[in-house]
Amino acid sequence: MAEQLRLDKLLADTGLWSRKEARDLIRRGQVTVDGAVVKQPEAKVDPASASLTAAGQPVRWQKYTYIMMNKPGGVLTATEDRRQPTVLDLLPPELRRKQLRPVGRLDKDTEGLLLLTDDGALAHRLLAPRSHVDKVYYAETEGTVDDGDVAAFAAGMTLEDGLVCQSAGLERLGPGRCLVTLREGKFHQVKRMLAARGKPVRYLRRRSMGPLTLDEGLAPGDWRSLTEAEVAVLRKEMDSCFRK
Ligand code: URA
Repeated sequence: MAEQLRLDKLLADTGLWSRKEARDLIRRGQVTVDGAVVKQPEAKVDPASASLTAAGQPVRWQKYTYIMMNKPGGVLTATEDRRQPTVLDLLPPELRRKQLRPVGRLDKDTEGLLLLTDDGALAHRLLAPRSHVDKVYYAETEGTVDDGDVAAFAAGMTLEDGLVCQSAGLERLGPGRCLVTLREGKFHQVKRMLAARGKPVRYLRRRSMGPLTLDEGLAPGDWRSLTEAEVAVLRKEMDSCFRK
């Protein structure tokens, strides 16, 4: 038999509403199931086949949850920590109960795009070296990058501590500001590469990861669910990498 879920849970699973907001919507008669208003939050619904609307908008239940976060500084990219706040602490309880994991990590002081999901297969593909997912970072540095730095990044660098960095993109934006594009994700890589060129990083923010770009409307600490179009494009890109 198909899995049946409580209506309020099903709406909260979308990440668009908390469980309480979902219950309020349902009790106010703003939720329909297969065309009929249902006012009982505990009503059981088959998420795979039911046609749902909430507040007049169609709602699609998704097996997995995909969250785009604008990670703020001062927060760890981890699922739990006894002493310091983690990115999971920024999510409401109904999302914290899911098995969401950050896809890759940003340093504590780095801001910007972080994807969190319970879709382990997609996360694995995004992080696999063969996927060659471009990650673009906006950096503010001491000093301004020059042609020599751009050439060194393009050629690939071996740092003094032996870290081998593949060819990377470096674009000057103005005094003390640049964009770095990496295809790998080694520990503190942007900071270490720029420091090795005598341009230590003062501020770092990830702008994009593969086809996913940080929503400019998200302030640091804010998050939203990925749109269906964003999930589709991620899946398509990963499928094509793994067919090659
Ligand atoms: N490179 C860094 O140095 N830090 C990050 O957080 C991400 C990439």
